[in-house]
Amino acid sequence: MNRKTVLLVVLVVAVAVGGIALVKMLSPGVREVTRVASDMSFAPFEYIDEETKEPAGFDIEIMQALGKAMDMKVEMVNTAWDGILPGLIAGNYDLVISAMTISDERVASVDFSDPYFATGQVIVVKQGDQTVTEPKDLISKRIGVQIGTTGHIAADKIEGADVRPFQIAPDAFLALKAGQVDAVVVDELVAIEELKANPDSVEIVGRPFTAEYYGIAIKKGNTELLKKVNKALAQIKADGTYDKIYEKYMDAEQ
Ligand code: ARG
Repeated sequence: MNRKTVLLVVLVVAVAVGGIALVKMLSPGVREVTRVASDMSFAPFEYIDEETKEPAGFDIEIMQALGKAMDMKVEMVNTAWDGILPGLIAGNYDLVISAMTISDERVASVDFSDPYFATGQVIVVKQGDQTVTEPKDLISKRIGVQIGTTGHIAADKIEGADVRPFQIAPDAFLALKAGQVDAVVVDELVAIEELKANPDSVEIVGRPFTAEYYGIAIKKGNTELLKKVNKALAQIKADGTYDKIYEKYMDAEQ
């Protein structure tokens, strides 16, 4: 081979390698790792297991099952709730699974998977408080909520209520036990979990007063991944995986 041929071969190889790298970079779906954000302070849906120090909960196991069904590696990212959707839109992660209610406001900025869980907001008060039996009893009372949640929005709708937002739901419960708020408005299963942990200090008032569905949030336009998620969701519902996870985290509580 003369010099020219060698140069030519080197050039051809370089262009081919570069081309393959470029195609890989530009084509969606070839990424094996899906990054999924969750505010892991919302048991039984997402929390850090005290013993293993690993993410645990209904959503976490659902996401792992979806990952398996989609043949994708799932990397969970513990993320503050406040700002979790801006982070999704900014591309810091691919999905959000965080007991997130599919709401009109959110649908304006992100897409959601098919619903995977039905629930509603409940009122939690201190054990023995007989003054609250329905939402209108919260007029002019101090209500603790997690900031930016549907509980926050529901509390804001109660006339004259003094709504106190907290960064995480457990802090709202702490404020209730300390007498700094009169009630907490939160997702039903999270209230039940709190009641299980503190049966002598809190109580749940009545039944849920809103109807909500959780969905997995995804950046608008990421339709390929969205389709995969929905297909995987249907699959884990059909093959019994969903029910198994549901029983593990929910049945004993309801
Ligand atoms: N379902 C409520 C909402 O979407 C609360 C969700 C809070 N989730 C959490 N992991 N902190 O607004």
